[in-house]
Amino acid sequence: MIRPILKYGEGVLHEKARTVDALTPEIDRLVDDMIETMYAAPGIGLAAPQVGEPVRIFVADISVGRDPNGLIVLINPEFVERDGMQLEEEGCLSVPGFNATVVRPSRAVIKGLDRLGTEQRHEATGLLARAFQHEMDHLDGTLFVDRLRGIKRDLIVRKIRKLTRAGKW
Ligand code: NI
Repeated sequence: MIRPILKYGEGVLHEKARTVDALTPEIDRLVDDMIETMYAAPGIGLAAPQVGEPVRIFVADISVGRDPNGLIVLINPEFVERDGMQLEEEGCLSVPGFNATVVRPSRAVIKGLDRLGTEQRHEATGLLARAFQHEMDHLDGTLFVDRLRGIKRDLIVRKIRKLTRAGKW
């Protein structure tokens, strides 16, 4: 089921998500919904808080479905290593219409459980490393906008407030 994606300013998007205690049928259904919602958007990543569920799960596929092995589902993910630096434009399904350059480590090693409860480890550089860090931020209630400073951040926040007041957000 495609679920509505929460937008900047809404509820659990800005809260720290909790650890998944058990891989229940509800969690399995949530993962299915997240995958369907990500591909429908379309997006290269989606975290559970974006569909209103404050739990530590994200899905990512930088091929957006073109690579049959491209889909990554991680439950209770944790960084093992991060290094380097990259500066690229970034956007978010929860902040539609806005992009900004965000500084991120250029390489990330991450581990977590897949939907069967098996530990997975992924090493990524470039776009996938960026996607991992963007989605991990979501699990801590942080959006890319929160990583910007000064005028850039104020400008986006002001525009969002204006759209919200106009009922267009
Ligand atoms: Ni996002």
